[in-house]
Amino acid sequence: MIHPIVKYGDPVLETPAKVVQEFDEELQKMVADMFESMYAANGVGLAAPQIGIGRRVAVIDVSNGKNQEAKIVCANPEIIHFEGEQREEEGCLSVPGFRGHVARPLYVTVRAQDASGKEFEMRGEGLLARAFCHEIDHLNGILFITHLSMLKRDLIKRKISKLKKAGDW
Ligand code: NI
Repeated sequence: MIHPIVKYGDPVLETPAKVVQEFDEELQKMVADMFESMYAANGVGLAAPQIGIGRRVAVIDVSNGKNQEAKIVCANPEIIHFEGEQREEEGCLSVPGFRGHVARPLYVTVRAQDASGKEFEMRGEGLLARAFCHEIDHLNGILFITHLSMLKRDLIKRKISKLKKAGDW
């Protein structure tokens, strides 16, 4: 089922999500819905709070649905190692229409559980490293605009308030 993506302003996006303890059928359904919702929105990553669910689950596919093997489910993910730096433009499905340059590590190693609860470690480089950082931030209630300069962030927030007033957000 495709869920609408929750937009900036909803408190669920700025609340740390809860640890996943049950790897049951309900979780499998949520993960399938998250992939479906992410592809429908043309995203490469989605965190559960973005469909209004405050649980520590993220899905990532930097191939944009082209490669079945690129599908990654991370439950309770943690960054256990990072190195290097990249500075690229970043956006977020929950902050549509706005992008900004964010510094992230070039390499990131994540420890997480898959949809069945099995623990794994994965190293990502470039876009995948960025996606890991961005999605784990979501699970901690942090949006990418937090990493922008105060000037840029305030500008985006002002534009969003205008859109809200006009009923366009
Ligand atoms: Ni995002």
